[in-house]
Amino acid sequence: MKILDGTIVKKEILNSLTKECSELSQQYGINPGLAVILVGNNPASKAYVGMKKKACESIGIKSFEYVLDAAISEDELIECIESLNQDSQINGILLQLPLPDHIDSDKMLQLINPAKDVDGFHPQNVGKLLVGLPTYKSCTPYGVIKLLEYYHIDPTGKHIVIIGRSNIVGKPLAVMLMQNDKIANATVTVCHSRSRNLSDLTSQADILIAAIGKPYFVTENMVKEDAIVIDVGINRIDDSSSSKGYKLVGDVDYHTVKKKVSAITPVPGGVGPLTIAMLMTNTLQSYKEYYVN
Ligand code: GUN
Repeated sequence: MKILDGTIVKKEILNSLTKECSELSQQYGINPGLAVILVGNNPASKAYVGMKKKACESIGIKSFEYVLDAAISEDELIECIESLNQDSQINGILLQLPLPDHIDSDKMLQLINPAKDVDGFHPQNVGKLLVGLPTYKSCTPYGVIKLLEYYHIDPTGKHIVIIGRSNIVGKPLAVMLMQNDKIANATVTVCHSRSRNLSDLTSQADILIAAIGKPYFVTENMVKEDAIVIDVGINRIDDSSSSKGYKLVGDVDYHTVKKKVSAITPVPGGVGPLTIAMLMTNTLQSYKEYYVN
């Protein structure tokens, strides 16, 4: 059984980005810039934004953080997004989700300049992804692709079952994996909360990808012997033995499932680190499109 360690892959990607970022910044006299907008106090979102900032600093991307009150109006948020769209120091804009209920997330994502949409959430970029045109690939699905590539797992012809149909992970990942592309060409099944006989479907997977946000959801009986399991879930559960009062677990019951499979990602340390690495990749891509191409 192989553990698919995302931290090694992240390090390798960040090392190469650091070098590229330093060369380009010298050549063009300006560092790439990423704006991160955080609305409200969601603790997980705050933690993610902190990690994104740290990654930016470590590779030479200038980060601009906008922490906005949970009660901010849509108009104020629109003003913030529009000023970042105009700002030439900003190559990427990331609006951390989820947003408070009174703000229409779809409307906000559509206001981000598609050229700065390093999350790949703008419908124009999602459409490009669907038809196979070059675009920003959303960071978590793109991270899964990079993980498969690093560990020489070729999806071609394999049956990949994805549990979860979110716009952030399930849908774009299904599109990437079914595409006629390098790390792709799979037969993809997407399951969700209304799927009947879920374990019959998951048991057919050569590669099973869990992205539903439910701790320990995938159990041993749902997985085929020697399958590859990719756990995208990052769930906080209470843990009085930890100083933080919680611990992070995936969507997969790791300790029982790992005995049955040929490879599995841990949580933390699997897909999570790749999400950040791909955000940095996309930000540098945007910078290059602005200055180099
Ligand atoms: N919330 C959870 N994952 C993500 C992500 O990849 N990007 C943004 N903007 N918000 C998220």
